[in-house]
Amino acid sequence: MTVPRGRASEVAEGKYVTFEGMGGSGKSTQVSRVKEWFEARGQPAVFIKEPGTHDFGERIRELVLGREDLDSLTEALLFEADRSYSFAQVVLPALERGLWVISDRGPDGTEVFQGILGSVQLDLIEAITSATTRGKVPDRTILLQVSPTIAFERSQRRGVTNDKFDERGLKFFERLYDAYKELATRHAERIVVVDGSRAVDQITRDVIAIIEGMVE
Ligand SMILES: Nc1ncnc2c1ncn2[C@@H]1O[C@H](COP(=O)(O)OP(=O)(O)OP(=O)(O)O)[C@@H](O)[C@H]1O
Ligand SMILES: [Mg+2]
Repeated sequence: MTVPRGRASEVAEGKYVTFEGMGGSGKSTQVSRVKEWFEARGQPAVFIKEPGTHDFGERIRELVLGREDLDSLTEALLFEADRSYSFAQVVLPALERGLWVISDRGPDGTEVFQGILGSVQLDLIEAITSATTRGKVPDRTILLQVSPTIAFERSQRRGVTNDKFDERGLKFFERLYDAYKELATRHAERIVVVDGSRAVDQITRDVIAIIEGMVE
């Protein structure tokens, strides 16, 4: 991915917005709506996903999601390596040029999957993430909240994903739901919880209102 040309360097730094939520909560659906919104405004923005901004990240994603023998620390370090590369190559240069960066999942995923649900201490994840993001924290995180049943059903409907987390069944989605709630409490200053169980258009209205509220 290449960073499109932004404006002059004296302009304000761009905003960094992440979308979080369980598999099937509607992140990619809403991110594509946000992309349309930026396109309609004629405002260039950078759209990425974690893991996998680069082919490099895609390979890490396949490696981790495709196998069961990885411990949480190994997983976290692999995802953090992707993040380090992605921040150095894409995210930070884009923000410096005044471009907004919209990310389908972000650093919170490591805290949820390898920290709250895994075995890696949260302060260790925090320290590594702070290094890989060079201290950049999302300006806003939109957490799409759906019940474990809805997330599970939507993920099932989509068929085979080769995603080991999606294949762990309803019980895992229940644990994941609680983990995201804990995440929202831990970072209440930047996380906005949006009810993702409604119709796509209704959710998009809320999402765009949040983004419009961030425009200076
Ligand atoms: N509000 C909604 N109501 C009903 N179905 C929805 C809604 N939003 C998304 N979907 C459908 O649910 C499925 C999952 O949506 P989507 O791919 O956007 O989720 P996701 O959060 O990106 O999932 P993953 O984490 O697995 O990538 C898709 O088939 C999508 O069309
Ligand atoms: Mg998705």
